[in-house]
Amino acid sequence: MLLKRFFSPLPTFAQRSNLVNMTYLPVSQKSLEKAAAILRSGGLVAFPTETVYGLGADAYNSAAIAKVFEVKGRPRFDPLIIHIASVETLEEVADLSLLSEDVRRKVFLLAENLWPGPLSLVLPKSEKIPGIATAGLPTAAVRFPAHEAAQTLIALSGGAVAAPSANPFGSLSPTRAEHVRDKLGEKVDMILDGGPSQIGVESTVLDITGKSIKILRPGGTPKEEIEKLIGHVEDGFSPSAETSGGFISPGQLKSHYSPQKPLLVFSMEEIIRLPYEPDAAYLFFDGSVRDKWVETQTENLPSSAFIRALSEKGQVLEASARLFETLHELEKSQISRIFAQFAPPEGLGAAINDRLTRASM
Ligand code: TXA
Ligand code: MG
Repeated sequence: MLLKRFFSPLPTFAQRSNLVNMTYLPVSQKSLEKAAAILRSGGLVAFPTETVYGLGADAYNSAAIAKVFEVKGRPRFDPLIIHIASVETLEEVADLSLLSEDVRRKVFLLAENLWPGPLSLVLPKSEKIPGIATAGLPTAAVRFPAHEAAQTLIALSGGAVAAPSANPFGSLSPTRAEHVRDKLGEKVDMILDGGPSQIGVESTVLDITGKSIKILRPGGTPKEEIEKLIGHVEDGFSPSAETSGGFISPGQLKSHYSPQKPLLVFSMEEIIRLPYEPDAAYLFFDGSVRDKWVETQTENLPSSAFIRALSEKGQVLEASARLFETLHELEKSQISRIFAQFAPPEGLGAAINDRLTRASM
């Protein structure tokens, strides 16, 4: 007995330091099957979507969901989004019978036209979804992502995956698998690498359960597209709402999406008048404004100057896809503050401006 104990193998480094063996794999049929098996057995998988990377758990497993909150350091009052891979599954995770005929019609109109896509619908939750997933709320935000790997993963697992963005609470959202590895690393069982996210800002969160229909978070689906289908929707996401007592969506905390450096946002007219400061980074929305600014500088700019345009031609999708990626890069750099230019406010520009404003607070 004593001998056996004496000769039992020493714990590995991973066991001693309490690390799990995280697996980092590119997306393939095999890695997706492995990831789905991890989800089915209550583990956590970081996976790509068209918006940002998600940190997934089986949406019907409350112990697995509890781990998501722990790994992210996320307060339990902030609900998760339930990801599905078919419109039919909607009725498994949401109880549409609690909605009026008119609202139900709008839900299907949105689902048929904008799903799969970057739109999360806040709906009465079904009994199958545990309360921990929705932070005790009677509603759940449901999304059908437009990313093949995400869809396959969801379908191969239990059919519904609860997933916040795969970043520590309050920090920048991940748009690459490397961002997840850097910030969450060994805390997750598996990271699926599907390359950079195509949209790069999170989904639009639309609350359709109240008296008026409200956008709780502007995101990948422009307000204009929603209004074309169901008419006027209200903005419920003013960054000042938190301080004025109009707290609506827990994830709309001001501190969200922040790089670890001070950031100031300017209009095009304002940023163009800023003088160059060696310890600041200049983040332009479009290449033409950057070029004009460079021309106005009286001194030669050093080659080390941190000057970027989110899109050379001012294309809003390209800009949104590069926003968090550029902020991640800035966070790691030597510069001490960031001067950024607002995007034009239409379409995806509203989501970019929302994230920049929050990052500046
Ligand atoms: O694009 C996305 O939405 C990404 C990918 C992974 O799908 N997910 C994401 O999740 O951004 P997360 O947890 O970082 O943000 C979810 C947002 C939060 O603002 C949260 O408060 C809000 O959705 N939300 C979730 N459930 C809600 C509910 N029942 N009522 C109101 N807001 C809700
Ligand atoms: Mg998030």
